[in-house]
Amino acid sequence: MPHLLLVESWVGAMGTLLPRAVTELGAEFTFLTRSPGHYPQSAFDGSPHPLRLGRAVVTAETNDAAVALDAARRIHAETPIDGVLTSCDYYLPTAARIADVLGLPGPAPDAIEAACNKARTRAALDRFGIPGPRHATAPADDSSRLREAAEIVGFPLVVKPTDLCAGMFVRRADDWATLETAAGDLCRFVVNARGQRRDPVVLLEEFLDGPEFSVESWIRQGTIHTVGVTDKSLGGASGFVETGHMFPADLTDEDRAQLVTAAEAAIGAVGLDHGVVHTELRLCAAGPRIIEINPRPAGNQITELIRHVTGVDLPAVAVELALGRQPAPSPVPDSRQGKSRPLSAAVSMLVPTEAGVLTNLHGAGEIENHPAVVASMFKAAGHRTTVGADNNSYLGSVMTVSSERAGARPLAESLLSSISVIYGTEPAP
Ligand SMILES: Nc1ncnc2c1ncn2[C@@H]1O[C@H](COP(=O)(O)OP(=O)(O)O)[C@@H](O)[C@H]1O
Ligand SMILES: [Mg+2]
Repeated sequence: MPHLLLVESWVGAMGTLLPRAVTELGAEFTFLTRSPGHYPQSAFDGSPHPLRLGRAVVTAETNDAAVALDAARRIHAETPIDGVLTSCDYYLPTAARIADVLGLPGPAPDAIEAACNKARTRAALDRFGIPGPRHATAPADDSSRLREAAEIVGFPLVVKPTDLCAGMFVRRADDWATLETAAGDLCRFVVNARGQRRDPVVLLEEFLDGPEFSVESWIRQGTIHTVGVTDKSLGGASGFVETGHMFPADLTDEDRAQLVTAAEAAIGAVGLDHGVVHTELRLCAAGPRIIEINPRPAGNQITELIRHVTGVDLPAVAVELALGRQPAPSPVPDSRQGKSRPLSAAVSMLVPTEAGVLTNLHGAGEIENHPAVVASMFKAAGHRTTVGADNNSYLGSVMTVSSERAGARPLAESLLSSISVIYGTEPAP
């Protein structure tokens, strides 16, 4: 049985989808983590969480690449490893390095490093003459360097960390005061959620005006295969929180082709040669502009939208590539037997607007029985809410399918808008 090493994981959708894909493909995995307690014991329905269903959970300090590599070597000596994967952005470089050192299929570690650091990505795109926003970096705690960087970029600009994800600390600044506040917030966030020390650099980028999309691709032996283009709705307190996605994006063939060409050029510029890639872009008046390149399957249930519409299961593709196999060309069977494939699928996320405690979600229960709904999940009463400023704050989501192109998004949005969120105050300490 093929044996995969999973190095850490997200705890959201991909934390379930990736181990599920390993098992469905008849492989098994060892889960390498610094902190087993970080991960849930059980799934939503009370069954054991898919991350707990591997052959073993091995604990080692994965934040230290050398220690993680030693642990991988020990596991490999006992039960040979055939491939290495992670869904968690913070461990993509370590997973790539382990695969490289063990001589297993995997992406060029340098390319992963470049894709995982937003400043390095910009530098690589510049080197290849790929048009992008004006940009500059500065130490987050150095006001004079920040002012110099802001002068190069000009307002309005976007302030962002080079090494976080889920929209964390990404802010639009129209003036110096907002920039200074955003940089100050970033400065105080010294260690990420996995205990890794953060890069103290802030990246400033010209604000790119235009609708946002992502291009979903996989690469084998340097050849890029693009599955399609997803669109993205944005909102929340920062204006950059992902509030929904639809696949396929509602685009003209010409715009779609432009976005795919731009994404594939960017993938080539950073040197990615293997694996599943989720490239985010904005379609500006002057053409597509790269936001960032994520060398892993798309999160936020986008891969499920694609699976419903096309039958292609990108987490399974990621597993097959990690095992050195050619991904199966035949789509996995549609679970909703007897029905033809929908022409669109969408997910809408419920973003909290108040900080406090979730008391009730009126109307959430009725949604799951709607015929267009293929999945829905909501936080239970008692959940602590924050004013949604990044993609970690969701109170729930609903996923719909439609037999009409572009039909799924309005359905998901209208179902979600029928829910009333009741907030309570903090319980007394
Ligand atoms: N230069 C930019 N212009 C306009 N919006 C941007 C820019 N950079 C980032 N954003 C917005 O912020 C969101 C999060 O930024 P991103 O670079 O993707 O970081 P993360 O890794 O946190 O997802 C993007 O999806 C986009 O909506
Ligand atoms: Mg992003």
